[in-house]
Amino acid sequence: MSPPSTLGNDKPESGAGENYADINWDDLGFSLVPTDYMYVMKCAKGDKFSQGSLVPFGNIQISPSAGILNYGQGLFEGLKAYRTEDGRLLLFRPAENAQRMKRGADRLCMPSPSNDQFVNAVKQTVLANKRWVPPPGRGSLYIRPLLMGTGAMLGLGPSPEYTFLIYCSPVGSYHKGVLNFKVEDKLYRAISGNGGTGSIKSVTNYAPVYAAMTDAKANGFSDVLFLDSATGKYIEEATACNLFVVKGNTIFTPEIDGTILPGITRKSIIEIATDMGYQVMEGAVSVEQMLGADEMFCTGTAVVVNPVASVTYKETRVDYKTAGPEILSAKLRTTLVGLQTGCIEDKKSWT
Ligand code: COI
Repeated sequence: MSPPSTLGNDKPESGAGENYADINWDDLGFSLVPTDYMYVMKCAKGDKFSQGSLVPFGNIQISPSAGILNYGQGLFEGLKAYRTEDGRLLLFRPAENAQRMKRGADRLCMPSPSNDQFVNAVKQTVLANKRWVPPPGRGSLYIRPLLMGTGAMLGLGPSPEYTFLIYCSPVGSYHKGVLNFKVEDKLYRAISGNGGTGSIKSVTNYAPVYAAMTDAKANGFSDVLFLDSATGKYIEEATACNLFVVKGNTIFTPEIDGTILPGITRKSIIEIATDMGYQVMEGAVSVEQMLGADEMFCTGTAVVVNPVASVTYKETRVDYKTAGPEILSAKLRTTLVGLQTGCIEDKKSWT
């Protein structure tokens, strides 16, 4: 199979008569469904990325002594493509992902693709896999860009070669059912202050959450909420999403201070809520504030916007309302998803 010839074409794709991959679109969760193509671009240390290409999706060859495998020199991103009712394919703020990857690459001493290279590569990947973009309302195509040190090496130091790779998978909901969070008070996601890597999408930030997450799930919780490592008094984020608590007309969320991932959904929700007339306060959010909140929700590319049904901190469990006309997260989600799927006019040029 060769990639479609329309690659790099910015014009909306017509959905009329378009073929879909032969899968059950009503059965999508958040797990890998291999698609047709991935995008690969390489560069040597000291060089700039220049030319990438689409290749069939599949395993990659990598030296056992690659920097990513031995020392974790790697980043990932996540973004989604949606199919609109009139057959267009929409990406949501892809340049934001390019910029976040660039910040992470600087922190991990890696070269990064330019904004244009990143966004163009994402578009090529989506177009080459367009039969895997779910029908409107049935999910999205999750796009996973990776940047990693793939050169062979032994001693500590930036890798001699880098690979930028994008693969994708159709997905449905990330969380199944209502969200019951356990507050983890012994293990931490990120070290406090600006010197750590909590604010970049380093691959090394993710496996360390497994111990707490596995334990919480074994005890009937959906996910874990982490506290700040300096005092253990303030909420940070969950394993894969940012957190918001609501009290009256004010929304509180932990500020981007070096430990919090600058989520693109987080940023968008802050803008949407502010436009709706809510006050959004970015700052330290204490466990007490959370336990006394009217409502709580989480945001992320994978999770979108999800209401939190309960949090359990030591022996205390607090339940929040997750349904009803007054639930703010539902209104925010409707607006966000409306923009992402082309159902609401995008006056901000986010798509
Ligand atoms: C995303 O929302 O894109 C994420 O990075 C979540 C991922 C850890 C599953």
